[in-house]
Amino acid sequence: MAPHLLTFLPCLQCIALLAVALPTCLTFTTTSLVGKPDLSRGFKTSSTKVLVSEVHIPAYRETKMPFIPTEEDLVSKIGCGEINLEEHEYDTHDFSSMINYEAGHLLHKTNEPVFTLEECKNIRDEAEHVCSSVGWTKNRHGNYPTTDVPIIELPETLAFLRKSLYQRIYPLLRTQFSEFLPDARRLRVADGFIVKYDVKGGQAELKPHRDGSVLSFNIALNSADDFEGGGTWFDSCDDPIKIDEGEMVSHASALLHGGQAITSGIRYILVCFVILEGYDSFSMRFYNKVRNV
Ligand SMILES: [Fe+2]
Repeated sequence: MAPHLLTFLPCLQCIALLAVALPTCLTFTTTSLVGKPDLSRGFKTSSTKVLVSEVHIPAYRETKMPFIPTEEDLVSKIGCGEINLEEHEYDTHDFSSMINYEAGHLLHKTNEPVFTLEECKNIRDEAEHVCSSVGWTKNRHGNYPTTDVPIIELPETLAFLRKSLYQRIYPLLRTQFSEFLPDARRLRVADGFIVKYDVKGGQAELKPHRDGSVLSFNIALNSADDFEGGGTWFDSCDDPIKIDEGEMVSHASALLHGGQAITSGIRYILVCFVILEGYDSFSMRFYNKVRNV
């Protein structure tokens, strides 16, 4: 059942990229985001006017920081010694590509897991453990509530993700989107969260929307046997893109997409929004070019 109405997820990233496109003098009336964005738990609301470019672009400078790998992250201890983590090398056999555009593709799905089953379980367990006391957030994305927990609230997952971004995910994204990125070494995660779809309560789907970042990816954190339905829906694909535990879907953020409804069970995914540091103008041009592909 493919949704057809264009809707818009008023996430911080959407607003931030819009801000790049808008004349700097332009203000707009918002009922969603005002003041300093709070990426961790909810947004303040107001109907006053706000100059978004002054408020939200600087937010990226803060929100990307927890995801930048440290020198300590990049060293593994082996016995009494230490070795530097190496970046994996990927080629086109490691993923399947869809939505042909110019010299490349705007949507990819890995053929093998990027996270092991144990790594997925560790993330699920930490998310459930933390949320058992503080609860899952349900108001971080304005009119399209998602049941999620920010990764910055999951210390073990955050530390693991920093390593895996360096070692696996950034090299993979560089390979998948090399045709489009002026400097693929500047990829930075600007926000990340764990989403829980549950038919028995909370969120079972996510309506069609566009993310505001340059690239987005999601990684399945539990088995496809744990639920029915699900997957990521794209406007330009006939069927939802489905992946199994540990596998990854990555796409141009501007593509109209959504979370296909699950009809039974529970589905966990890790979602990240990725920007290209220092390339705000390119980012907006790319966004506008591919949004209606
Ligand atoms: Fe999205």
